[in-house]
Amino acid sequence: MLRTNHCGELSEENLDESMTLAGWVTNRRDLGGLLFIDLRDRSGIVQLLFTPERAELHDRAGDLNREDVIRVEGTIIERGEDNVNPRLDTGTIELEVEEMEALNSSENLPFFPADGLEVNENTRLKYRYLDLRRDKMRNNIELRHRTFKIIRDYFDEEGFWEIETPVLTKSTPEGARDFLVPSRLHNGKFYALPQSPQLFKQLFMISGFEKYFQIVKCFRDEDLRADRQPEFTQLDLEMSFVDEEDVIKVTEGMVKRVFDEILDLELELPLRRMTYEEAMNRYGSDRPDLRFGLELVDLSDQVKDSNFNIFSGTVADGGAVKGLCLSDPKEYNRSQLDSLEDYAKKLGAKGLLWADVTEDGLDGQFTSHLTGETEESILDEFEANPGDLVFIVADSRETANEVLGGLRLKLAKQNDMIPEDRWEFTWVRRFPLFGTDDTGDITSEHHPFTSPSDEDVEKLGEDPLEVEAKAYDLVLNGIELGGGSIRIHDRDLQQDIFDVLGISRREAQEKFGFFLDALNYGAPPHGGIALGLDRLAMLLAGEDSIRDVIAFPKTGMAQSPLTGAPMEVSREQLDELGLRVNEES
Ligand code: AMO
Repeated sequence: MLRTNHCGELSEENLDESMTLAGWVTNRRDLGGLLFIDLRDRSGIVQLLFTPERAELHDRAGDLNREDVIRVEGTIIERGEDNVNPRLDTGTIELEVEEMEALNSSENLPFFPADGLEVNENTRLKYRYLDLRRDKMRNNIELRHRTFKIIRDYFDEEGFWEIETPVLTKSTPEGARDFLVPSRLHNGKFYALPQSPQLFKQLFMISGFEKYFQIVKCFRDEDLRADRQPEFTQLDLEMSFVDEEDVIKVTEGMVKRVFDEILDLELELPLRRMTYEEAMNRYGSDRPDLRFGLELVDLSDQVKDSNFNIFSGTVADGGAVKGLCLSDPKEYNRSQLDSLEDYAKKLGAKGLLWADVTEDGLDGQFTSHLTGETEESILDEFEANPGDLVFIVADSRETANEVLGGLRLKLAKQNDMIPEDRWEFTWVRRFPLFGTDDTGDITSEHHPFTSPSDEDVEKLGEDPLEVEAKAYDLVLNGIELGGGSIRIHDRDLQQDIFDVLGISRREAQEKFGFFLDALNYGAPPHGGIALGLDRLAMLLAGEDSIRDVIAFPKTGMAQSPLTGAPMEVSREQLDELGLRVNEES
């Protein structure tokens, strides 16, 4: 070994010990002859002292650059009361250096890897290995490792087996585009990278493995944002002979263990639950942030007979009039309110109405159209007080919920209503099995292997959009941590679902034939869930982006500034794969 001890683990208990340390030069200070260097290794920092008495050593230390790599021998001494550094764990001691060996030097750095420095993210990602030297990043990576270890131990104790699934495979539909890998041996044919191990884990249940889990990379070619990466890591699990409650219970046990061991925080189980309908009606989102109130209020009953046609007409057409009441709002001027309206329109609203609540009632552009009685009942329903600001949307119920759901988050951020130190979990259950896409075609809300609820199976034919799924999402602080379902294990029912989705028998056989065949050979009832581990690590680390808990993430444009990927490839490589790039596209 090149060293005997680790910098960050030293304390007064090591006084008078001789030792060898190795690490990076973080800082150098020359105080009239005494030279101090902060030496850093993975465990932390300790101060090195070079005295003028050892002149040659002192000179060499004076020539060191930041981030040079050195090895030192010396003795641990006390710092003396005046020189104690309370910000450093090892702040009461230092190593008086007797020997030093330079192991390597560092060139001038593109940025110095210290926390709190403003460095643009592209530069951080280009020199990620330097960025990862920062305390914060190193702590995040360590936290991620510890979280994974806790999860692996937990599932092992619960009788799960971790089994790998193929990465070069066939399309696995999770609603995104596939990343494709061209085949050299079969020109014109492609593997797809898995969007999730969904079908393989179901096959494990048919294999009789009963309890599977895997910490697994998934690949989705979709628009990126702070909590989405093209490759990300799931905790994926599947169990046989279970219902929703069993999957929820084992997942909650895992989450509790992680929060206990990582944050020393005791979660109360069972976690909160709500239906999809309740989440949409009260919070305008299927991943409600429950760290603050500002719930959506339904005013449809109060305004259905109003003279104001926008209100009464909307209700008469089967829509809804809903709103938010903001207590103690910050000062909003006209242009800020206009930009809130623009935001609402971007989310699909025809318009956004607002009014101040005064001692005399509502004061806004539309309030002259309301009778005193209607105004009164609106105020009652809002439980509004003078000084409040109300926002109202009249639209289809769906649009009103969605718009107000978005506005709710924006207003909460603008008014500092979101406490940082709260952990608000909820399960969202009883999702609709199907939705519609932009063209009105029926699509799966989760994926096509999700089971309809037992009561709704009959509705599949005539009223598919009314069918509820045996699906559940786990939401934390407004972020979807995971989702899963009880699966279809009956081949005929699976076929019925494809029929509703307009997937022909031929297409189904082509895409999923291997899986449909497997359903014929004694598939047990089964279900499972997958959690986004990058998102979990992000929340545990208190970060806003999953990029900060992934060692080598991609940018928002799905590129790696470090490696330059994705790259053009040579003509020879393309020829081998039987590919030609269309220069025009
Ligand atoms: P789903 O598609 O909901 O379900 O994915 C499960 C969880 O994975 C995380 N996630 C992502 N994280 C980062 N970047 C992404 N691009 C990304 N996409 C998804 C989310 C999400 O909740 N096979 C099903 C699970 C099942 O039914 O068992 C599935 O993949 O946290």
